[in-house]
Amino acid sequence: MTAKLWGGRFTKKAESWVDAFGASIGFDKELVNEDIEGSMAHIKMLGKCGIVPKEDVEKILTGLTVIKERAEKGELEYNVQNEDIHLNIEKFLIDEIGEVGGKLHTGRSRNDQVATDMHLYLRNQVNEIMVSIKHLQEALLGQAKQHVETIIPGYTHMQRAQPVSFAHHLMAYFWMLERDYERYEESIKRINISPLGAGALAGTTFPIDRAFTAELLGFDGIYENSMDAVSDRDFIIEFLSNSSMLMMHLSRLCEEIILWSSQEFQFIELDDAFATGSSIMPQKKNPDMAELIRGKTGRVYGSLFSLLTTLKGLPLSYNKDMQEDKEGMFDTVHTVKGSLQIFAGMIETMKVLDNNMEKATNEDFSNATELADYLASKGMPFRAAHEVVGKLVLHCIQNNKFLLDLSMAEFKEASELFEDDIYHVLEPKTVVARRNSAGGTGFNQVKEAIVKAESIINKK
Ligand code: ARG
Repeated sequence: MTAKLWGGRFTKKAESWVDAFGASIGFDKELVNEDIEGSMAHIKMLGKCGIVPKEDVEKILTGLTVIKERAEKGELEYNVQNEDIHLNIEKFLIDEIGEVGGKLHTGRSRNDQVATDMHLYLRNQVNEIMVSIKHLQEALLGQAKQHVETIIPGYTHMQRAQPVSFAHHLMAYFWMLERDYERYEESIKRINISPLGAGALAGTTFPIDRAFTAELLGFDGIYENSMDAVSDRDFIIEFLSNSSMLMMHLSRLCEEIILWSSQEFQFIELDDAFATGSSIMPQKKNPDMAELIRGKTGRVYGSLFSLLTTLKGLPLSYNKDMQEDKEGMFDTVHTVKGSLQIFAGMIETMKVLDNNMEKATNEDFSNATELADYLASKGMPFRAAHEVVGKLVLHCIQNNKFLLDLSMAEFKEASELFEDDIYHVLEPKTVVARRNSAGGTGFNQVKEAIVKAESIINKK
């Protein structure tokens, strides 16, 4: 059994099964790079402030560099008895350079150390996630550009409502993702502040320079209050909340992809690379990836609620409960990155079955609003027009027709205001083209939106 780095006050040896329960090394080893980076900044600061002699600083920096290289090669053998990443690294350092390694922890506590690691980690990960959001936005834009004039039924209540441009439908998700991107981007200013130097909770007697370590680590500033610095996990909650929102958006698109690729809709076909077969039913092509992303949304929400609940009754400042902040955060980082990557590929490669979409809009009543608008534009009050068209729809249903199948005589019988141009007005393409109000599905609007979206993407 290795001696504890904090063992001085203890008279009994720790039980290994108790150690195992309390340890976080099994998961917080993911912070290895950030932990070493934070330590390097801290020891440089101790040297600069004359707290640790320069030659000791050099020895410690050399030792940390060796450990960093070993970490990169996957050569570090972590020990559960050393509890977490911080104590494991410190132990490796002391083993590497001797007792002088013990000077690294001067003026520092694991409480400000772990908080620093988490801030560094999340800053890096959020930046990577933002790049992945951009890639998915590009994939959506790519499909949208090819399908401005592809018409698909638009739904409300999952009932055919009005035809829309397929590009318009896809671009709705582009804008949701844009807000997700902005939320992550704005959160960086709260992530990128340094808790280092807060000590255990109260600061330290050593003449440290917090601004210096903050600058070395690329932080924009320091926490104003040492107790807040070691207790704050709201930057992680915010990340989990932003991720929940993103996953909710992805999950909605998953649901549409699953519907669209079904036998009932047949609006798209997923590329073989993003679908799977059945072990028993040879005909099956399942949209597994979309289902899985929809499913994984649940665990991200779970991590958000888990951390909110963990923190809600905690008094200041650090409590061991807070070690529970990590697994949900790591899991969310992996889930979000994986989902975004899969999604971009799935969208890029999906085949749009535009003929089937068009056929669908020719065989429904989603052009009925157009008919009412037509009468209203000729002076009939909209309510009355609505009634006339409702009756015409009923007449069609009873006679197994669609609106475009009606004869001029049938139209005239419903209202004298109908003229020959009604057949053109009722064409799904015309219906879509004419919805040219700002942000509408009219082709000109959609084209403008695509140009705007491209300029946003090009600035990222
Ligand atoms: N493994 C701990 C955590 O993740 C590090 C901080 C421990 N500090 C302490 N005083 N026990 O929260």
